[in-house]
Amino acid sequence: MSVTRRSFVAALGAAVITRPALAAAPEMTVYKDPDCGCCGAWIDIIQTDGIDAVAKNVTRESLVRFKLANGLTEEMMSCHTGVIQGYLIEGHVPTADIRRLLRERPDAVGLSVPGMPYGSPGMGPENEREAYDVYLVRKDGKAEVFASYAAA
Ligand code: CU
Ligand code: CU
Repeated sequence: MSVTRRSFVAALGAAVITRPALAAAPEMTVYKDPDCGCCGAWIDIIQTDGIDAVAKNVTRESLVRFKLANGLTEEMMSCHTGVIQGYLIEGHVPTADIRRLLRERPDAVGLSVPGMPYGSPGMGPENEREAYDVYLVRKDGKAEVFASYAAA
């Protein structure tokens, strides 16, 4: 467990004490291809981090249709698509960014880590990470950088 993740979990504990209304773990439905192994690895990580994720296997075709119908452009696509409190979480998005999204509640489709960058959560060791960005996808289809992760 990284130092960042540990202090994040500690901060989370404090937040639960001061904001009892948010004490329950947020629930996420994750749509994924049944043959995708990295999706399961990502789900395990966000579950460990306190998000109540439930996986739903769907065909690749219906998954792509679902993404497009809900405002994701092709450039923003990755493997799985999570749905949490009205937001899409596309691909290997770190838990800290999901938490920040739910805290800040921007008017947006959700977050995406396009493709599957090596070393992002569920995609291999963090200490061998390649640089990648987390994008905030707006409702007009535009995407802006929400968080940046440097190469390890
Ligand atoms: Cu993946
Ligand atoms: Cu996936």
